[in-house]
Amino acid sequence: MTLPFTVLNMLKITYIEYNGTAHEVEGREGQSIMEVATQNLVPGILGDCGGTCSCATCHTYVDSAWVARIDAATDDELGVLEGALDVRENSRLCCQIKLDSTLDGIVVHLPQRQY
Ligand code: FES
Repeated sequence: MTLPFTVLNMLKITYIEYNGTAHEVEGREGQSIMEVATQNLVPGILGDCGGTCSCATCHTYVDSAWVARIDAATDDELGVLEGALDVRENSRLCCQIKLDSTLDGIVVHLPQRQY
């Protein structure tokens, strides 16, 4: 039997707060890691600009096991990241990371605060 619509796979994301609390949620392909966080009320991801790469309130640290699997940040993202606190080598604005099947299981760590 063929379904009359496309079934999208749910992809797992784990957000780990500064205090170590982990939040494991699921998102759909094409969503950003910021969108999934705000829809699931993950604390510490604000997403004030709605994902337009202009606020840096979606700052995360990509887990070292996943850094090589995501595309490099654009110059625009790097410019906005300059306004974030405690920026590290693995810092990313998670509104700029779109989910696809290769990112199923990704882990991101949250900074102590966004501002
Ligand atoms: S939500 Fe504003 S830069 Fe990511």
